[in-house]
Amino acid sequence: MIFLIIGGSASQKLAAKVAWKLQDTLSPIETRKFPDGERYIRIKGDIPQDVTVVQSTGYPQDENLMELFLILKNLKDLGVKNIKVVIPYFGYGRQERRFKEGEAVSAAIVAELLEAAGASEIFCINLHEKDMKKFFNIPVHEISAMPTIAEHLKEMDNPIIIGPDKGALGFAEEIAGILDCDCDHLEKVRLSPTKVETKPKSIDVKGREVVIIDDIISTGGTIVNATKILREHGAKKVVVACVHAVLVEDALLKIFAAGVDDVIATDTLRSEVSAVSVASLIAEKLEEV
Ligand code: R5P
Repeated sequence: MIFLIIGGSASQKLAAKVAWKLQDTLSPIETRKFPDGERYIRIKGDIPQDVTVVQSTGYPQDENLMELFLILKNLKDLGVKNIKVVIPYFGYGRQERRFKEGEAVSAAIVAELLEAAGASEIFCINLHEKDMKKFFNIPVHEISAMPTIAEHLKEMDNPIIIGPDKGALGFAEEIAGILDCDCDHLEKVRLSPTKVETKPKSIDVKGREVVIIDDIISTGGTIVNATKILREHGAKKVVVACVHAVLVEDALLKIFAAGVDDVIATDTLRSEVSAVSVASLIAEKLEEV
């Protein structure tokens, strides 16, 4: 059976790596913009019944999403029966409920549109809101990037893996389990009615190599704050690891200026620190399913 992999313009390199790992055919897709900014899509060559599309929906989110919808609906119209959609970084995945009256629940809307466009199954790397799976009526396979990130940290000297908040403790525990090292998270302790201190919950970081792990780095504010605290508590080395390097504006500069020694991220999004590829994890999951 022939399987075809299509890389949308946000994820062509990653799609090529996945195709190579699976020994599948990488489709020559033509995608460009008309002079007025609208998107043109053409899928060339023979199209089999099973197709996998790889497209992250990070910045520019609206363009990447629109391109994905065009690819999916086009494949459906061309008779493809099974369309697996790999969305390494799921943009619009944060608003999974209506916080204020009248707000759009964007995660639910995007999920519905993906299904309507023809997606048969979804594959994602570390969804920010786990809850958003409930918006799909098709299978959603979430893959954790932590094993691959851990692999890139194994040369460190007995590090402590730290989540910048309690929500990131699960990532820290996963990596620490693989590397057989300590983990912790930062927590806010109220010292007085007017004074709050943020510090590692239970482990002393003095003189230790520390890894701060988070799913997303967006403005960098969370990492800058965590780095300052860890340096104040005597951390010898601070390495930052994340899955999705959203990196708004000068986030990376702020992070290095705060005293971070190194930043590593996966290639769910393209950036100058996206050195850890999730291609093998995606290929394994596609093969397993
Ligand atoms: C929050 O829940 C996330 O896990 C990240 O900590 C957050 O998205 C990071 O954002 P920023 O880089 O803007 O602080």
